[in-house]
Amino acid sequence: MNHKQTFPEGFLWGGATAANQVEGGWNEGGKGISVSDCARAHFDTDVTNYKAHNAVTSQDIEAALATDDEVYYPKRHGSDFYHHYKEDIRLFAEMGFKVYRMSIAWSRIFPNGDDEVPNEEGLKFYDDVFDELHKYGIEPLVTMSHYEPPLNLVLNYKGWYSREVIGFFTRYVETICTRYQDKVKYWLTFNEVDSMIRHPYTTGGLIEDRFPGQNFEEVIFQAMHHQFVASAHATRICHETIPGSLVGCMLTKLTYYPYTCKPEDVLKAQQTMRGTYCYSDTQVFGEYPAYLLSRFKNNGITIRKEDGDDEIMKSYPVDFVSFSYYNSSCAAEDTSNLNVTAGNTINAIKNPYLKASDWGWQIDPTGLRISMVDLYDRYRKPLFIVENGLGAADVVNEDGTIDDQYRIDYLREHMKAILDAIEEDGVDCLGYTSWGCIDLVSESTKQMSKRYGYIYVDCDDYGKGTYNRMRKKSFYWYKKVIETNGMSLYLEEI
Ligand code: BG6
Repeated sequence: MNHKQTFPEGFLWGGATAANQVEGGWNEGGKGISVSDCARAHFDTDVTNYKAHNAVTSQDIEAALATDDEVYYPKRHGSDFYHHYKEDIRLFAEMGFKVYRMSIAWSRIFPNGDDEVPNEEGLKFYDDVFDELHKYGIEPLVTMSHYEPPLNLVLNYKGWYSREVIGFFTRYVETICTRYQDKVKYWLTFNEVDSMIRHPYTTGGLIEDRFPGQNFEEVIFQAMHHQFVASAHATRICHETIPGSLVGCMLTKLTYYPYTCKPEDVLKAQQTMRGTYCYSDTQVFGEYPAYLLSRFKNNGITIRKEDGDDEIMKSYPVDFVSFSYYNSSCAAEDTSNLNVTAGNTINAIKNPYLKASDWGWQIDPTGLRISMVDLYDRYRKPLFIVENGLGAADVVNEDGTIDDQYRIDYLREHMKAILDAIEEDGVDCLGYTSWGCIDLVSESTKQMSKRYGYIYVDCDDYGKGTYNRMRKKSFYWYKKVIETNGMSLYLEEI
């Protein structure tokens, strides 16, 4: 490594959260119920069984609506950012954040999704949050939709499968872009837009039993088409309303290696990777890639489009490409004798060269560099790493300290890989926001004990605790990284 040891000037260091996992206050301030408020924790289910944790039926929703319980529905309490945001932002500022990625809960602004008039109390809440951020010179990076469709759109429409939802979303985007035009410059449209294929309920408000007799894969792609059109409208609205604004897509960066050099394994890895790129390909190039159209044809999938859909998608591609990256996986033609582990929203094939987190996610900093190079070569648009981090069970020592050296080790190696990609591979990267900079409720397992933060929140899996905030060892470490613009990563003693 001969390159310099600091990040580019103006590199946006920060942290990331999502309203549905951090805010709480699920029934306060005029907020409506969102899909995530009805996402149930399965305490006895193996944490690596992603599918079991995320399966949702109409019956589950009825059960959720019948109770105000927050133990089984932990996203209802989150980390109570709703009441602690001033304290939390002060801590972010203490670490030196330049940017804070957060989402606006759609159901706080339009409680039912289809309302004519927005909820002023919800709008005011985000005004206050943005003002607080700006007070410390922290730039907000706002996700418009991070697993937060209002539940009414599931119950009285068919989630994103219904064409009308594009109109409701567009109204929401017009409202927030107009209201926050002087406060928010960086926007993301849909968090992990590709995730609809893996968890259709949280991303698209789709419940399979509400589509009897229909090809559910077709339902998912139809809903996704609506999100692509809506995303293009959102980009248009942002550009028209906020001069100089930048809008990004957001994808789950799932990186697959061939398990062996057998050509069939290499082909399998390539095909799997294409399967993950098809969504960002569509948002960056403004049209469906040929290989996705082939998949539609071969699987008997017909997407209903309206006049103007192709034009709007083509006219308003995204300005930058953001992504989450946590782990890598392998791909093989024959997986029958291979070991499987968990990954972000997937079951991954174990790579014998990698260690894994306590939740089974394989730790691979080099994979982040590989991912950045792939994305930049493919799109030639600036990248933004908006999620990365280690979910771990932290222990509070008797003296109140939290020694999360394992998290520091994970982050340090990933950050070095980012600088290698920038300096050696010529990748343009706008910034880095580590996931769950303050502890929050896990998306996949709904656990509070799967912690990512620099800031500990005293709350357990059942929502019990004082919700007090405490600085972990990594808090001081990250502060130093930001202060030195990355230089401290290379100094052993720190
Ligand atoms: C990403 C999501 O996929 O992964 C986040 O955008 C999520 O919402 C994060 O929290 C980490 O996953 P988990 O399951 O550990 O919370």
